[in-house]
Amino acid sequence: MNRFSLSLEHVEPFVPHREIDALAEETRQVVARVHQKSGPGSDFLGWLDLASSTTAADLQAMNEAAQALHDHTDAVVVIGIGGSYLGARAVMSALSHNFTGKGPDAGAPDIYFAGNNLSEEYLAELLDILQEKEFGLVVISKSGTTTEPAIAFRILKKMLEERIGREAARQRIIAITDARRGALRTLADQEGYRSFVIPDDIGGRYSVLTPVGLIPIAIAGHDIAALVHGAAEMEDLTCPARTFWENPAAQYAAVRNLLYRKGKKVEILVNYQPKLHYFAEWWKQLYGESEGKDGKGIFPAAVDFTTDLHSMGQYIQEGERILFETVLSVEEPTRQVVIPDDPADLDKLNYLAGKRVDEVNKMAELGTLLAHVDGGVPNMLISLARLDEHHLGQLIYFFEKACAISGYLLGVNPFDQPGVEAYKRNMFALLGKPGFEEETKKLRKKIKK
Ligand code: PA5
Repeated sequence: MNRFSLSLEHVEPFVPHREIDALAEETRQVVARVHQKSGPGSDFLGWLDLASSTTAADLQAMNEAAQALHDHTDAVVVIGIGGSYLGARAVMSALSHNFTGKGPDAGAPDIYFAGNNLSEEYLAELLDILQEKEFGLVVISKSGTTTEPAIAFRILKKMLEERIGREAARQRIIAITDARRGALRTLADQEGYRSFVIPDDIGGRYSVLTPVGLIPIAIAGHDIAALVHGAAEMEDLTCPARTFWENPAAQYAAVRNLLYRKGKKVEILVNYQPKLHYFAEWWKQLYGESEGKDGKGIFPAAVDFTTDLHSMGQYIQEGERILFETVLSVEEPTRQVVIPDDPADLDKLNYLAGKRVDEVNKMAELGTLLAHVDGGVPNMLISLARLDEHHLGQLIYFFEKACAISGYLLGVNPFDQPGVEAYKRNMFALLGKPGFEEETKKLRKKIKK
C-alpha cells in the first residue's frame, strides 16, 4: 500500500492509550454495525463499497463522456453546491498547479465553478469570462431542485444556446442527477443530454467517488481510476475484519469522540499546502452536516498554515482550550526550490542556504505541532507520501468511513441533514414561491416586530 499513516502520539498527553483502548471494542462494534447496515440512516451507505465495486466499464463510460467535453471546449463550468460541488473542487485543486489551476494535462479545458453561491457579481463576471470561450456545462444536483445551481444553469444554458444553437448546446451539456426524480432529470431526458446517475443510497457529501466528482475530475485530465483504486485500498484497511489498531478510521473516530467528551468541541483541520484548502472545505461539509445535530457535534474548522499562523495562530496557541487539531502532512512535494546563498546575507538567511523550502515548511509544521500541544491543543497527524490521485482516494475514503463511525459513536444519524431546510423555507417564503403563502405571512409579521 502506498504510504498513509495516522499518528496519535500527540494526543497521548490528553487521552492516554488506555482510554483509547477502552473504547476500541465499542468502536469495533460500530464498524460492524456500519457494514451490517443496521444503524440510523443505513439507506445511505452505498458509498461503503462503491470504490471496490466500480468497474473498468464504469470508469470508461465516465472517461469517454469527459473526453468528449474535453475535446470540444476550452472551458467547462461545473454547476453544483454542497456535496454536488466540494468533492470535485477539492480533488482538482489538490492536483492542479497553484496558479494556472491546471493539472499535468495542459490541453484540458479551464474549469470554472458556478451554482455554489447566489452572488450576482460572481455570475456576471463568469459570463464575462465565458464570452471569450468555447464552453460546456456539467450540471450536478441530486434533488434536481436546488435553487443555487438551478439559477446558474438556467442562465448559462441560455447563453450557450444563444451562442451555438440548442442542438449543438445539447452536445456540450452533461447532467448528473437522480435516476428518476427531479426537475433536472426531466430536463435531461427531454433535451437528450448525456447524463449520469447519483445512486439513491449515496448522499451528496459522500458522493465524490460517483460521477458527481469523477466526471469533472476526469474532464480536468486527472486519473480517476487511480483515485478509485486508492479509495478501494482504504476500504480494505478499514473493513470489519481489521482490528481496531489496524483500522485508522476507527482510531481517528474514537479519539475525536474521546476529545469531544473532554470538552474539545472544535476540530481544526490543518494543512501546510495551499492546494489542500478546498480539501478542508470538503471535509468541513462532511463532518459539519454529518455530526452537527441534536444539539451535539464537534465544530469542524480549518486553517491553511503557515499563512494562518499569522492570523489564527494566536488563538490556537492561547485562546479557549476547546480545540484540537488534525494535521494533514504531505511528505514529499512534487517540485523543488532551494534557498540560495547570498554573500551579503543582509536578511540573515544564509543558515538556510542550500535547504529546500519544504525543509523549512516541515520544521514549521513540527515546531507548530509541539507548541500547540504544549499550549493544550491535542494533535493528530495524518501523513501522506505525496499529493496524487491514489493518496487522495485513500484520504477521501478514510474521512468518509471515519465520519460514519464517529457519528454513530456520538449517537447521531450521520447521513441526514434536516437542519439545512430551515433557511430554504424562509428564502422561498420571502421570495413568494407558490405553496409557501402561510410561511410568507408568518415571516412578514416577524420582520415588522
Ligand atoms: O450533502 C448534501 O446532501 C448537500 O450538501 C447537497 O449535496 C447540496 O445541498 C446539493 O444538493 P443537490 O445535489 O440536491 O442539488
